[in-house]
Amino acid sequence: IKKITVLFEQAYKNLGIDIAPKIVLSNREDLCDYQCDDAFKLAKVLHKSPIDIGNMIIDEISKTDASKDVIEKIEVYTPGFINIRICAKLINDTLNSLTVPHFGIPEEKQETVFFDYGGPNVAKPLHVGHSRSPIIGDALKRIYAYAGYTTKSDVHLGDSGLQIGQVLYGIFRDNKQLDEIDLEYLDKIYPEMSGLCKVDEGIKNKCEELTFRLQKGDAELEKYYNVIKNVSVTEIKRVFDLLGVSFDTWEGEFTSLKFVDTVERKLNEKGLLQKSQGATIVEVSTEDDKKPLPPLLFKKSNGACIYATTDLASIEQRVQDCNPDKFIYVADLRQSLHFEQVFRTVKKADLSKATFEFCGFGTVNGKDGKPFKTRAGNTPKLVELLSDIKENFISLKAENAQMNDDDLNKIVVGILKFADLQNYREKDYIFDVEQFSKVVGKTGPYIMYTYLRLNKIILENQITPFNDTIYNEYDRSLRIKLLNIK
Ligand code: ARG
Repeated sequence: IKKITVLFEQAYKNLGIDIAPKIVLSNREDLCDYQCDDAFKLAKVLHKSPIDIGNMIIDEISKTDASKDVIEKIEVYTPGFINIRICAKLINDTLNSLTVPHFGIPEEKQETVFFDYGGPNVAKPLHVGHSRSPIIGDALKRIYAYAGYTTKSDVHLGDSGLQIGQVLYGIFRDNKQLDEIDLEYLDKIYPEMSGLCKVDEGIKNKCEELTFRLQKGDAELEKYYNVIKNVSVTEIKRVFDLLGVSFDTWEGEFTSLKFVDTVERKLNEKGLLQKSQGATIVEVSTEDDKKPLPPLLFKKSNGACIYATTDLASIEQRVQDCNPDKFIYVADLRQSLHFEQVFRTVKKADLSKATFEFCGFGTVNGKDGKPFKTRAGNTPKLVELLSDIKENFISLKAENAQMNDDDLNKIVVGILKFADLQNYREKDYIFDVEQFSKVVGKTGPYIMYTYLRLNKIILENQITPFNDTIYNEYDRSLRIKLLNIK
């Protein structure tokens, strides 16, 4: 645009036209690359038709030698648009001068962006729905890093909630020794205890009590807790590794507890803490709210910390640690109220100057439109879904069965990630293993196949990224697009 503008400026000067030329991207890609609509404006001043003015400008520009290096074709299009097609050499020289592969995206930016995604719950099995947060969060982080931001990511383990007290209760009831706590036991005990708590208030209270005692630093409970956490996090790491998802830190609710006192002091200093039915709350609704927002529950009446407490504390921890300019939270859309309450509290208490963004996602459904279930009717574990995808892919062709396990796993993950990311994030989507595994159409395997094939062509033909031959109009229009990435 700059190069074209210079040519127009010179022409306007020669013609005695007294405005700054305005060159824009074409809105008719089939006709030209760039366009200038100045002739319409000038028609009123010069008392000539836009077509005549257009032709006058074109003649003036075409006369110059300088235009030969920039413009391949320039013409007036009724009723007076000036259409410009640029030279192949200019396209290629410009593309090659960009910082490939960053295509002109400035690499360094000042801001640090903090990503909170993954959020698996310790002691609970990873279910199908738990694939969305790590996949979306990791993709976002990669995009921000590519665009030149400093990124930090934390998995934010759910490791101080009721499920911990429930599992501890089960361990003591079953008289389990430390070395008997393994994945198999956790997979069994959590669902059992969670079911029990729904029907037995007494047991639920005891589980809550255990959770609270652990939060307050009971050394005996912590011994068991450490084993539970170790067993569970080892498995979570294995699965996230398989998904190709990584984190800078593996902190969580539990590690944030150290920062609760600081947050409480800051909230108190601003006079934000109130008592309501014994509990400690923060009012967050404002006059502008169409519906009043319920207050944030900071601590329960017994003083126990809950979800909002640890989220606020972890923000304090992160601010002290790297003082991010922006926070992005990737979690189930149904948590949007929670995050709104937390973000408002942060602003009221001035815990951070950063901007906060909640990036919510919809549910993974089965073909019946209801939350995804296994054939046996259970909510499938994420690892089961992965092996289902694998089995299905292997069954497609004899060749697939012969692939090595590493490659197979990469395809399986590709199928899952593509299926997840191709949807509008906030929409629920239907997980259809057969559809997603197809080797044609909008699928992970197709993208992977295309990528491999392109690489093979490039390697075998020793094609440099932007050589001087423009093969056809598709190639040309792709190059023009790359030129204009902002
Ligand atoms: N563990 C939570 C859950 O399973 C998700 C955590 C999301 N992140 C956060 N900072 N609250 O619902």
